[in-house]
Formats: sequence, structure tokens, C-alpha cells
Amino acid sequence: MTVRPQKSGKAFSFSKENEKKAKEFISHYPKSKQASAVIALFELAQRQSGGWLPEEAIVYVAQYLDMPLIRATEVATFYTMFNLKPVGEHFIQVCTTTPCWLRGTDAIMTTCQKELGIGAGQTTKDKKFTVVEVECLGACVNAPVVQINDDFYEDLDAKSFEELLLALKAGKPIKPGSALARQCSAPVGFSPQANTVKVAVKKAEATKKPDSPKAAAPKAQTTPRPKAKLAPKASTGATKLNGKSAPRTGQKKNKDV
Ligand code: FES
Repeated sequence: MTVRPQKSGKAFSFSKENEKKAKEFISHYPKSKQASAVIALFELAQRQSGGWLPEEAIVYVAQYLDMPLIRATEVATFYTMFNLKPVGEHFIQVCTTTPCWLRGTDAIMTTCQKELGIGAGQTTKDKKFTVVEVECLGACVNAPVVQINDDFYEDLDAKSFEELLLALKAGKPIKPGSALARQCSAPVGFSPQANTVKVAVKKAEATKKPDSPKAAAPKAQTTPRPKAKLAPKASTGATKLNGKSAPRTGQKKNKDV
């Protein structure tokens, strides 16, 4: 279902800083192809508008890029990353695609309902929180994953997600990343630093020279190989007799020789 962009009731124009950025984005495309920058400019407009893209901003960007309004509106309503109505200060996107769902998305959504009193697509009355369900956020290995504003929160469960929400409600900072202190996408409990040390120690041991010749490990005894008796060469069918080749077996003697 396509949602019609809402009006903010305020005129929109880029701030000085965003105007500069918009010109930079447009410069990446050939002349007369400036409309290719529409997504980048919508992104700027959405940030400037507090996380959503009002109709006034869509009209402004269409004019800015000299493109038909209908085409700009098609882009804005096609991509789910553009919010066409106001969102809360903390915009919570819960990944509900299969890997995250299998790892506990339902518990995350239940926690939203319990702590915030809202479900998917809703905003709290104080405009602090909006919750939406989204498709794969591209961090499946650390599922389940939730994006809050620009950051990812991974390896969550009901308890760790509840702690995040309580901190946000109390106005405290929260730490993005894995709730299990996982290093990037490495197996849980794996420490790249510790592993580097282990590898270095192993290498050092492998290349370590003995302290004194006495300490050197005795060389492995080698038993001399018995000399192999040379077997007579297989007859090639021709042997040299007085520098001349004897005729091969079955070969007719040349009477003239
Ligand atoms: S399925 Fe949730 S991040 Fe990919």
C-alpha cells in the first residue's frame, strides 16, 4: 500500500550546509542528468526535516533537480527508507526477516509493546519512539538486529533490548553493536587480539634456535641404503660388436656386410 506523503505545513529549503552537499552530489553526474541525485537529496531533506520527508521537501527537491514532480514522488514512495509521515526521536527499525525472526524477533516486538505500549508502525504519544518492522538489515550473522536511528544493535534478546529501551527512556546513551560483546561477525567468545598473540607465539617457537650445540636434538639415524644390484639392461634388440651394430633378432643378415 502506498502512503501519500504528509504535509508539514512549513516551507522547505536546504540549509546552507545541505545546499553545499546537494551541489556536491549533483556534480557526480553528467550535465542534464542531475535527477540521478534525487535519492541523495531526499536523504539530506529527510535528515533536515527531523527524520521524515514531508511533501514540501519532495516538491522542493523536484524543482531543485528540474525533474517532474511525479517522478520525484515515485522515488519517495517506492523506497521504504523515506518516511512519509513524522517519526519519533528514536526511530526503531526491527528486522523481521527469517534469520532475525528465527533468533527472536517476536520477543523484541513483544518488548516494544510492553515497554513503549506501541506496535509496528506506531509512534508513542510523547513522539519519543516510533517502531517499524523492516526487511533484512544486512547483519544477519548477529541476528536478531534492530536499527535505532543510524546505529545497529545486535545479538539482542528480550532482556538486552529492554535495557536499551529503559536507557533511552531515561535519556542515557546506549552503546551500539553486539549485546554479547561479539567482535564484528566473529564467533561469540573469539578474541582476535588473543588469537594474534597465540599465532605469534607458535611462530616464534617454530623458528627458535637451540641454545647450544649440545642442546640440539640428535639427528635422526639414517641407515645406509644397500646398493642396488644393477639388473642387466633389457635387450634393445641391438648390441655393438666391434663398433658395429649387430642385426636385430629376426633381422635378415646383409650378406654384403
Ligand atoms: S535477517 Fe535480520 S539482518 Fe538479515
